[in-house]
Amino acid sequence: MSEDPAHPPPPSRPRTIVHHTQTGAVVRWDAPSAEQIADSIPGLKVLELCGVGGMGAVYRAEQHRLGRTVAVKILPAAIAPDEEARIRFEREARILSGLNHPHVLQIHDFGKLPDDTLYLVTEWASGGDLAKLLDGRAHSMTQVRDWVRQIADALGAAHAQGVIHRDLKPANVLVLSDGRLTLADFGLAHTTQPAGSNPLTSSGALFGTFEYMAPEQMESAGLVTPATDLYALGVMVYQMLTGRVPRGAYARASRLAHVPAQVDAFINRAMANDPAKRPGDAAEFSRLFDQACRAPERRRHRQLITLGVALVILTLSWARLAIVRAEKKAAEAEARVVEIIRRNTPTRPTPPVTDAQATESTASDTP
Ligand SMILES: Nc1ncnc2c1ncn2[C@@H]1O[C@H](COP(=O)(O)OP(=O)(O)O)[C@@H](O)[C@H]1O
Ligand SMILES: [Mg+2]
Repeated sequence: MSEDPAHPPPPSRPRTIVHHTQTGAVVRWDAPSAEQIADSIPGLKVLELCGVGGMGAVYRAEQHRLGRTVAVKILPAAIAPDEEARIRFEREARILSGLNHPHVLQIHDFGKLPDDTLYLVTEWASGGDLAKLLDGRAHSMTQVRDWVRQIADALGAAHAQGVIHRDLKPANVLVLSDGRLTLADFGLAHTTQPAGSNPLTSSGALFGTFEYMAPEQMESAGLVTPATDLYALGVMVYQMLTGRVPRGAYARASRLAHVPAQVDAFINRAMANDPAKRPGDAAEFSRLFDQACRAPERRRHRQLITLGVALVILTLSWARLAIVRAEKKAAEAEARVVEIIRRNTPTRPTPPVTDAQATESTASDTP
């Protein structure tokens, strides 16, 4: 599967995988173009290369017989010379077929090509992955609640089957055409009920993606439990709400987004170093997150009532002041009118008092 110079890769899409084998060898592999493998997979027409991950490439394809669009993931023999990578790929197929859940990617087929390339045919997620949807932005609490509920549902189903995903991150959650989220890439999954003969962690290598990795997973791949996935989901909650991945001494989510302090406390718990301090299971994770998100609504309600009461008091005081002023003005106007009337009323002339009248008056006053 070499590069076809007639069909150079789109510049924005990386197509090369650098793989470190168990023996320490470094293998470079260029994903073939869709045209190069168009008719290689039985029953499919490969149409477009749409993603290159750590362990192979993913293409959009059409399934002739059913006339539907599907995704096909290939693991070429070139990057899987060691048994472990191949076992992981096969295990991913078995895990997917055992998990029949509306939020877990559906598998349609699995097989091997004559050149030893393994392939996995799954339902097509036309919305791409959640990393693309998040787009480095902060999203509303209502939206995040809905996403968390779907992912936690899928994790709950996987954990119930003894499957721990171990590489939960936005790039491994896909978006279906109806907007539903679906959990994908169980390539690093660990099963407590072994689906193959070899243990997945035989090489002792660290699996997962650093930012989403729980402390116990960094310490030893063998220490993972369902709580390891819940830690990663906690990281995703912070990322979805704030648009940032928590690193080092990260800021509280409530300082970066309109979320209540209860959400900060929830994230701290989900990302607790001690797995025993995290929510007990995926269902509890979902329930506690919902509870934390509902807190602000009550607080906002109280704030609205306080604001309303303050407004009423203010309006009444203003009205009282206006009445007092109006009364004062009316009184002043009345006083002015009285004064004007008084000034304009002609005073009647008083005739001068005669001497006789004066004597008469004095005589009548004498007892
Ligand atoms: N079913 C699918 N539909 C659409 N895109 C997919 C599908 N599966 C994978 N992809 C794309 O390919 C990328 C890599 O796929 P993934 O299964 O995570 O493989 P890897 O193990 O190589 O990381 C995903 O992040 C997504 O963008
Ligand atoms: Mg992946």
